[in-house]
Amino acid sequence: MNFSFQLSPFNFHLSTEKMVVKDKIKALREALEQHNYNYYVLSAPTISDREFDEMMKELQVLEEAHPEYADPHSPTQRVGSDLSKEFEQVVHKYPMLSLGNTYSEDEVKDFYERIARDLNEPFEIVAELKYDGTSISLTYGDGRLVRAVTRGDGTRGDDVTANVKTIRSVPLKLMGDRYPATFEIRGEILLPWAEFDRLNKEREEQEEPLFANPRNAAAGSLRQLDTNVTAGRRLRFLAYSLGEVDAPGMTPWTTHSSLMASLKSWGFDTPPEGRICRSVEEARAYYEHLEKERDDLPFEIDGVVYKLDNREAQAALGYTARAPRFAVAWKFTSRKAETRLKKIAVQVGRTGVLTPVAELEPVSLGGVMVSRATLHNEDEIRRLDLRENDIVIIQRAGDVIPDVVGPVLEKRPEGLVPFEFPHVCPVCGSPARRLEGEAAWRCLNMACPAVIMRSIVHFVSKAGLDVDGVGAKWVEALIESGRV
Ligand code: IVH
Repeated sequence: MNFSFQLSPFNFHLSTEKMVVKDKIKALREALEQHNYNYYVLSAPTISDREFDEMMKELQVLEEAHPEYADPHSPTQRVGSDLSKEFEQVVHKYPMLSLGNTYSEDEVKDFYERIARDLNEPFEIVAELKYDGTSISLTYGDGRLVRAVTRGDGTRGDDVTANVKTIRSVPLKLMGDRYPATFEIRGEILLPWAEFDRLNKEREEQEEPLFANPRNAAAGSLRQLDTNVTAGRRLRFLAYSLGEVDAPGMTPWTTHSSLMASLKSWGFDTPPEGRICRSVEEARAYYEHLEKERDDLPFEIDGVVYKLDNREAQAALGYTARAPRFAVAWKFTSRKAETRLKKIAVQVGRTGVLTPVAELEPVSLGGVMVSRATLHNEDEIRRLDLRENDIVIIQRAGDVIPDVVGPVLEKRPEGLVPFEFPHVCPVCGSPARRLEGEAAWRCLNMACPAVIMRSIVHFVSKAGLDVDGVGAKWVEALIESGRV
């Protein structure tokens, strides 16, 4: 009696404290999800980053102290874990197909005409951006994200759920309560330009190979075994279609547009660009409009997708083995420009590799001033027969680092001589070697100032000691002033 009398107030105290903690955790989770949504989907944060981080920290501390309230859908789970895992393969219930590509107004006209013929009734086409990322299938059960699978070979893909959970515009828990019991959303994962540039700048400093375009970078970021790496690359998800659905008692969506509106109401990021195009002329006008807008968008698009808006009509038209009959893509042509190749410079990297770089008369390419382009190696220069002072065509075909397509021979000034790739290091003058089976020439002088400089830059970079605030410029200045 005495015993239990002594214990009960203690127990009572514990359980009230527990309830307070539980409520606190719940409140923090809800608030953080809301702030995530405000920030990543609405782009309208209502608190500072610092306040957000503090709330997140508070939640982390509480969750660590109370593992009994762990929840795989908690916002803290977005920050990644140290666990490394192999990806499991998952078979898609319905295959993830591709889209028929068209490259001209005539082909789009064929598409409209075929639909008119097959449907034999009035129809509306909705046009939207063709996102240039990597496709993903997200499965939700009871309003929670349960699985994320890559397209893979179309039939089966990799289970990348842990990585996708780190993407802030992917709702872990849907907003509202009017959603199907289980359903699959398909869409594209993108790496916005700003992130892409930041990532490549970092890689350049660390002398790691650059990502050629945001699409490769997005796909690579998703396949990281360490979810922290994925979390550190601010990927974005944009939904574009519905896969498998189980929605007893719910009226199915009649149009693609209304489906997109529902997705938006559940907290998905859906850009407001969808437009009804009632004729081929309207389809072209929208294509031309987007081609102009393209460079002002925060992420890369590679064309326009035209879809039959009515979902019943979509089902009636069905699919070929490869693609839906009710949708088609009109792809943009690659961005090209003409300019003068002022000089072929040869740079020396940390490992002594001599890399040729085209120094160009600055020219605008897709809204960005370009003054340099990659030339890859000696063989590539020879294949194109590039000569200094040539007028060249450069292009950016989804790739950010422009490529030299080739010289405009009709415009070649007289007296230009074929380029001789240097057989000595352009920095230290010692002999360079091209080993058998390799495309690259290398400076073999271990004491080459370029090799030393690049090595020190690498040493202080993130890949090395990660010395804060010391980059290439500092190292250069220290070496030049004789302090190093
Ligand atoms: S609808 C059956 N809508 O383009 C596939 N796809 O080239 C229908 N894509 O694998 C997909 N933006 O990853 C659709 N607004 C959009 C899209 C889009 C990009 C991708 C998708 C697909 C690829 C085909």
